[in-house]
Amino acid sequence: LVGAGLFGFLINPPLSLYYMQGLNLTPLHGHTALFGVYGMLGIALVLFCVRGLRPQEAWNERTLRLSFWALNIGLALMAVLTLLPLGTLQLLAAIEHGYWYARSAEFMQKPIVDLLIWMRVPGDVVFSIGALALAWFVLRLWVRPRSRQPLASGAGATSR
Ligand code: HEM
Repeated sequence: LVGAGLFGFLINPPLSLYYMQGLNLTPLHGHTALFGVYGMLGIALVLFCVRGLRPQEAWNERTLRLSFWALNIGLALMAVLTLLPLGTLQLLAAIEHGYWYARSAEFMQKPIVDLLIWMRVPGDVVFSIGALALAWFVLRLWVRPRSRQPLASGAGATSR
């Protein structure tokens, strides 16, 4: 919704694309759309397969929840702390001085740009925690897994 829908349409109209093409608003759209849609879809598919491969193991939902939130918050921090402000600054520079200037070494070596690039760190750290939590979750289904509790008799639920 946000990556493809909002940021895709932000850069798509010919008038805006004339000024924005290849600035940091493009990776803003590319990262949020590609990971937000297909990255998340890929993880869902992995989890679906893992469920079939290890049906008897209990899922550690706390680790999965941590992974879900860390991946989403990390992605959002990357977008909000670096790519969106940097892309907007480049856009203003392109409108004011011309496209060449927005991509020039002179512009890209400004202290504010350096700062915005370093602002990737918090989001990337949070995102990495999400990736590690997911890897840990999958690993624990094979290494010292916990089996599901048998359902209490008469509980009424169907077991898989
Ligand atoms: C799941 C859906 C989408 C994905 C995964 C996706 C992914 C990407 C990626 C990775 C790029 C960067 C390509 C590059 O740098 O060479 C890109 C560029 C672009 N996307 Fe999307 N996109 C999606 C949907 C959309 C939608 C809905 C729109 C418009 C309504 C859109 C408009 C654009 C435009 C105009 C560019 C070129 C920007 C430029 O050259 O500066 N995209 N897209």
